[in-house]
Amino acid sequence: MTAVAGTVLCTLALPEPGPARLAAVAELRVMGRIPTVTELQAALREGVDVLCPQLRDRIDVDVLDAGRPRLRAVCTYAVGYDNVDVSAATARGVIVANTPGVLTDATADCAMGLILAAARRLCEGDRRVRQGRFSGWEPEFLLGLDLQDALLGVVGFGRIGQAVARRALGFSMRVAAAEHSSPRPVADELGERVRVMPLPDLLSEADVISLHLPLTAATHHLIDATALRRMKPTAVLINTARGAVVDEAALTVALREGWIAGAGLDVYEDEPRLAPGLVDCDTAVLSPHLGSATVRTRAAMAELCADNAVAALAGRRPRHAVNPEAWASPPPPLIGGR
Ligand code: DGY
Repeated sequence: MTAVAGTVLCTLALPEPGPARLAAVAELRVMGRIPTVTELQAALREGVDVLCPQLRDRIDVDVLDAGRPRLRAVCTYAVGYDNVDVSAATARGVIVANTPGVLTDATADCAMGLILAAARRLCEGDRRVRQGRFSGWEPEFLLGLDLQDALLGVVGFGRIGQAVARRALGFSMRVAAAEHSSPRPVADELGERVRVMPLPDLLSEADVISLHLPLTAATHHLIDATALRRMKPTAVLINTARGAVVDEAALTVALREGWIAGAGLDVYEDEPRLAPGLVDCDTAVLSPHLGSATVRTRAAMAELCADNAVAALAGRRPRHAVNPEAWASPPPPLIGGR
């Protein structure tokens, strides 16, 4: 049996098998809520070796400093880590790890669902039916966009962007990727079937634009009023990445004034709040950050998050460290390595 040593702090409880894995090797503390900064600082000052936060927790300099000198790793329960100040963590010798790969297909499914729902106006139709405003089939009632032969523009051609491209090809869409937006090699089966275009051209030619970029200083408000003005009035915008990649206030105006035909959004700039007026835009399909929300995916994320934490406790760099350079030399093991 492995000796229990070291302390892991989770803000929200992880799904199994995360807690079982962590509790087998460490003291597991669970706050059970998204804490305020002061609450999180107080919890860290009690002595924590590994923090497992949620994407809603802001892990900034003040939080990292409260963890000193004991905090060795921040293992976030998400693939996106824009909520963590990684350079401050690196400067303090704190390794940051995330959960890539396991949520690719679930997120791509969600994006495809939003593409279908926005293009075919399914949520508008659902509301009409519920409101008793469906008075029977009519030749020009709620007409939408044909996906066959429509051009999907993928902005951010990494794992998830490529998974969406595969699905879209299955729907007989044409697919193009924005230039310079592929952080990893393009899979062989996609290489020949996907055009690469400069972003401004992609915005003006695509029928559907789907965003799959991390949120960074360079991608913040990448889709602003100018970008929205470039899109066709028949086009739809899909965002399953991070809300602030889109200027949500500008998007609200674009939808209200019909610059574009619709949007499918799973993420928002200031979750859970929406930009004023967005909720009144009938052509927007709004889902509550469900990209990875399947039973299997959330369990796989918990497993990866726990594996990252266990590695850090054992003094090994987690497989999914985003700043491996944070540990010039690994800290001493608190538990037996595997
Ligand atoms: C992530 O992991 O970053 C996702 O947004 C969660 O759905």
